[in-house]
Amino acid sequence: MPTLENLTVFGAGVMGSQIMMQAAYAGKTVVGYDISDETLDALKGRWEWMRTYYRRDLDGFTDEKFDLAVSRISTTTSVMAAMANADMVIEAVPEDLDIKRTLWEQISESDPGHAILTTNSSYFLPSEIAPSVRRSNRFAALHFATLVWLANIGEFMGHVGTDPDTLDAIAQFGEEINLRVFRVRKETRGYLLNAQIVPLIKEAARLYVNGVGTFDELNESFKVGLAAPSGVVDTFDSAGFNVFYSIFANDEDPSLREFANVMKIGIENGKTGVGDREGFYTYAEDGRKTGLSNQVPAVWEKK
Ligand SMILES: NC(=O)c1ccc[n+]([C@@H]2O[C@H](COP(=O)([O-])OP(=O)(O)OC[C@H]3O[C@@H](n4cnc5c(N)ncnc54)[C@H](O)[C@@H]3O)[C@@H](O)[C@H]2O)c1
Repeated sequence: MPTLENLTVFGAGVMGSQIMMQAAYAGKTVVGYDISDETLDALKGRWEWMRTYYRRDLDGFTDEKFDLAVSRISTTTSVMAAMANADMVIEAVPEDLDIKRTLWEQISESDPGHAILTTNSSYFLPSEIAPSVRRSNRFAALHFATLVWLANIGEFMGHVGTDPDTLDAIAQFGEEINLRVFRVRKETRGYLLNAQIVPLIKEAARLYVNGVGTFDELNESFKVGLAAPSGVVDTFDSAGFNVFYSIFANDEDPSLREFANVMKIGIENGKTGVGDREGFYTYAEDGRKTGLSNQVPAVWEKK
C-alpha cells in the first residue's frame, strides 16, 4: 500500500489544527485550508498553545521537533491549491451539512484523482455526505477526539460504497500518525465513542439547565464516583462550545436548545473552552485548570 505522505486538512479550527499538528509531528507534510487568512494566521497562536501541552504530555518532546513540525505545515485559502498534491484529505469544517456538502462539491471539482478522502464529522454519516463527493468509493469518515496527542483515538467508518482498500489505507495512515485506530463495523451515528458518551453529555446539559446541580457539582460528582480523571462538563471545555452549539441549537428537546444559549454566551465572549483558556472553567497556558469561570451562572436560571 503506498504511503500517504501529503495530508490536506480542510478547516483550521479546534480539531483541524490539532489534526494538522498530529500529522506534522509524525513527519507528514501538511497543507491547511481555511476560508480566511485571519483564521489561518490564528494558527500561530494555536501552535504555541499546543506546544505547552506537547511539552507536558509527550515523552521525548523537544522544541526542535515541534518547530520542525510547524515548518512542515503550509496554509492556503484556495481549494484548488489545497488539493494539488494531496494523498490524504481530512475535512474538519463546521458541523453543518450544507457547509460540508458545498465544500465537498468544491473539493471534487479540484480533485486530481488519487487522494483518500475523509470527513471528521462528529454527527453526520459518511453516506449523508457521499452524494456530494465525486469519488465516493474513496470516501469515509476518520474521526478524532480533541486533545488528539493524548486522546489519540482514530475511529474510521465507511458507507456502503466505500472500497475496502480505502478503509485499509485510512487505518494505515492513522497508525502512521500515532493514532489507536478502531474500525466501526456498521455505519452508526456517533461511531463507537460518541455513541456512548453523547447521551451522558446531553443529560449533563439537561441537569444544568434544570437547576439540579451547578456545573461544577455535576462535573465533580462524576469524577469522584467513577474515580475518573475528568467529568462530563469538562467535555464541553475540551471540545469547545462551537461544536455543541451547532448540535444542540436545533435539537427537538427544549432543554438542549436552552443549553445552546449557554454555549452562545461563551461564543459571543470569545471564551469557548480550553483553547481560549476559559469555558465553564478557567485554565493556565499549559491547560491546567485554575478555577471556575463566571461567564455563565453556576446554576442556570430559567428565563
Ligand atoms: N471539537 C471537537 O472536539 C471535535 C471532535 C471530533 C470531531 N469534531 C468535528 O470536527 C469538525 C470541526 O469542528 P471544530 O470543533 O474544529 O470546529 P471549529 O468551528 O473550531 O472549526 C471549523 C473551521 O472550519 C473553517 N471552515 C473551513 N471551510 C469553511 C467553510 N466552507 N465554511 C465555514 N467555515 C469553514 C472555519 O473557518 C473554522 O476555522 C466538525 O465536523 C466537528 O463535528 C470536533
